[in-house]
Amino acid sequence: MDYLQTYGEQKLNGTIEISGAKNASLPLIAMTILAKNNVHIKNLPNVADIKTLLKLLSNLGAKCEFHEDKVTVDTSTLNQTKAKYDIVKTMRASILVLGPILARFGHCEVSLPGGCAIGQRPIDLHLKALEHMGAKIDIKSGYVEATAPDGLKGCNIIFDKITVTGTANIVMAASLAKGKTVITNAAREPEVVQLCEVLNASGVKIEGIATAVLTIHGTDSKLLNIDEFKVIPDRIEAGTYLCAGAITKSKLTLTNVDATHMGSIISKLEEMGLSFDITKDSITIHPTQDIKPVKITTQEYPAFPTDMQAQFLALATQADGVSIIEEKLFENRFMHVSELQRMGADITLNGNIATVNGISKLSGTDVMATDLRASSALVLAGMVAEGETNIHRIYHLDRGYDNLEKKLQNVGANIKRLKEETL
Ligand code: UD1
Repeated sequence: MDYLQTYGEQKLNGTIEISGAKNASLPLIAMTILAKNNVHIKNLPNVADIKTLLKLLSNLGAKCEFHEDKVTVDTSTLNQTKAKYDIVKTMRASILVLGPILARFGHCEVSLPGGCAIGQRPIDLHLKALEHMGAKIDIKSGYVEATAPDGLKGCNIIFDKITVTGTANIVMAASLAKGKTVITNAAREPEVVQLCEVLNASGVKIEGIATAVLTIHGTDSKLLNIDEFKVIPDRIEAGTYLCAGAITKSKLTLTNVDATHMGSIISKLEEMGLSFDITKDSITIHPTQDIKPVKITTQEYPAFPTDMQAQFLALATQADGVSIIEEKLFENRFMHVSELQRMGADITLNGNIATVNGISKLSGTDVMATDLRASSALVLAGMVAEGETNIHRIYHLDRGYDNLEKKLQNVGANIKRLKEETL
């Protein structure tokens, strides 16, 4: 197993190229199950979650050729419809194959993903929506068994809560369904928008893209012809590097980035005193010597993303004053707090609200990554902590950050990947 070692009082300078978005790539790869042609996808991030989903598709019989940041997926050979526990347990987003496999083959079994470090994360809304579309769903021996021998039928679906992968799953299922599906309270995340745009360009008429009401005109089992496309930039990776610039008080430029997806992140950094030069595909952050405290509530897009909460919490430890950070989406997403406290951060946790008393003098130590975004928060803290910080269990980080330490080294960071000693 690997760990990361970094040192405090760092100054960064230079340019970081942002990779394609992991959370856009995953539904887009699952979408290839709906295609009759070989699908070429460009600008994929080199992260473990993408390899996991491609492995899942390969296990189901698809052919996947992954080279650098491109993949070609041929699902014409897909001949299995069971997503097994050993893969699903490593990546919850495997549930994204449920909608498209059921729509194409009329049956699908997917292992229940179970809880995870940040909360229970049920999939009841996915299942309820598929039942509305005519699927029969049974839960047996830890698996969701879904059948729709007569195909899925369009209907009205109102999500009780906004769900990102739930919306993606149902949009994909509705694409091959018979008739019109209207999804109310749909997620509007840019990753969902791209999925809808690609489907819309591939013969599925979708109205209301980027709004909370999506109308999907299904093809009645006709498979799609999907042209080559490029995954949108990763707004969470970009936001993390903006926090790296902010916390180390360094000027950094990000390229291959789309600031229009990052409104709430940029505006919170502006409130904290940072300033920016923004072009169509780049963002330069200008440092401030006096980081101001901030109030943040995580919510669905376009509000502040839960996937940036941990990084802003690390940044808030260096603000001059008291920041309040409220987590509204996941009940247990504050595991990084105890690790930051071990580094000397002054944080009080009360339910889902963290109160961060800023200008903590952090000191380096051994810390443990508990989930994907918590890992990058610990890296940020390590770059301003006195002395050496070792971040363990970075397999979480490798799930979603493409070459994080290399990208940081390229802008002058003192960070390296080392092997854990075996006892
Ligand atoms: C996606 C993102 C994840 C991000 C999250 C919230 C991917 C692969 N992952 O996760 O990085 O943190 O959105 O922006 O895109 N819920 C239910 N029942 C359901 C589904 C969801 O109660 O059937 C609840 C969840 O427990 C949570 C909330 O709805 O409280 C939002 O979850 P959801 O948007 O579904 O998150 P994911 O799609 O799993």
